[in-house]
Amino acid sequence: MKILLTGVSGLLGINFAQEMMNEHEIIGVDRGKLVNAPFKVLKKDLLDDDAVDFILDSAQPDWLVNCAALADLEACEENPYLAKLLNTDLPRRLARACKTRNIPFVHISTDAVFDGEKGDAYTEDDHPNPPGVYSKTKLDSEWAVLTENPNAIVARVNFYGWSLGGRRSLAEFFHNNLTNSKSMSGFTDVIFCPILVNDTARLLVKMLQKGLRGVYHVVGPQAMSKYQFGVEIARRFSLPEGEITPKSVTFSGLVAKRSNNLWLSTHKLSTDLGEDIPAFTTGLSEFYTQHQQGYPQKIRSYQQK
Ligand SMILES: NC(=O)c1ccc[n+]([C@@H]2O[C@H](COP(=O)([O-])OP(=O)(O)OC[C@H]3O[C@@H](n4cnc5c(N)ncnc54)[C@H](OP(=O)(O)O)[C@@H]3O)[C@@H](O)[C@H]2O)c1
Repeated sequence: MKILLTGVSGLLGINFAQEMMNEHEIIGVDRGKLVNAPFKVLKKDLLDDDAVDFILDSAQPDWLVNCAALADLEACEENPYLAKLLNTDLPRRLARACKTRNIPFVHISTDAVFDGEKGDAYTEDDHPNPPGVYSKTKLDSEWAVLTENPNAIVARVNFYGWSLGGRRSLAEFFHNNLTNSKSMSGFTDVIFCPILVNDTARLLVKMLQKGLRGVYHVVGPQAMSKYQFGVEIARRFSLPEGEITPKSVTFSGLVAKRSNNLWLSTHKLSTDLGEDIPAFTTGLSEFYTQHQQGYPQKIRSYQQK
């Protein structure tokens, strides 16, 4: 298949491309970071007026996966207008264009659409109540996308992995600090369902192959605190877990409001795919093996001449 990926320099985009480029033809959209990628890249700012038609006319894809976003929560609070343009208006235009052209479309949303007040796992039937600008613009994107294009897939995600800049994911935060013997905090009262980003990419492709549509939770099958996640990283890499101080997010000093419980059920996804979602330990082992095999350096080399 020919897969068009917006946001290909991002954490999801670059790993999706890396994961799928041997099986599929990848065409990424990038503003200029990638100079040495082993797949085709269209240079375009997605906020240009002609961007949507330009990328679809140039690539003529079989599938489009929208990984572009303003995904920094603090940046969204500082610039709500830009957050709306990228997180809501752009997905709406992409969804509409894909409907017109009959191209299966995946839009990436977030686990953060929920307020975290439920004392149990959230299902796709639960009512979202986004706490901040980022999550509000993402929830608006879900409605916009499915109104324009009811056949689209909306995937609520959360993932970790190796990134282009080496600092995008929570796993890199813990790994970087632990390898530099720097102490750090880990939140004990923020629960999430981490999954290796390569698994996210594999699941999204399976969803496209199966012709799924609508909202899905595409996260890991195991819920844990961010502190516990840091400890798991430390143990897997044989680094000193004592450097991670358990802490409440209440004392984090972060401006953007965050939900404490982002435990999402993956029952609908595993049922409709007819398979289990990869276990946390399996993903963590792959993350470790990637490190041992120079995967982070390989990805980073795509932005170097
Ligand atoms: N990371 C997570 O665990 C997580 C959790 C929940 C949801 N999500 C969602 O997953 C998706 C991917 O997230 P991510 O972590 O991969 O984000 P990311 O690393 O911040 O990547 C965002 C991508 O969007 C691109 N982009 C932003 N503005 C653009 C513009 N005007 N024109 C062209 N490209 C533009 C960025 O390009 P530049 O590199 O040029 O800026 C980058 O490639 C997003 O929808 C995000 O909301 C992620």
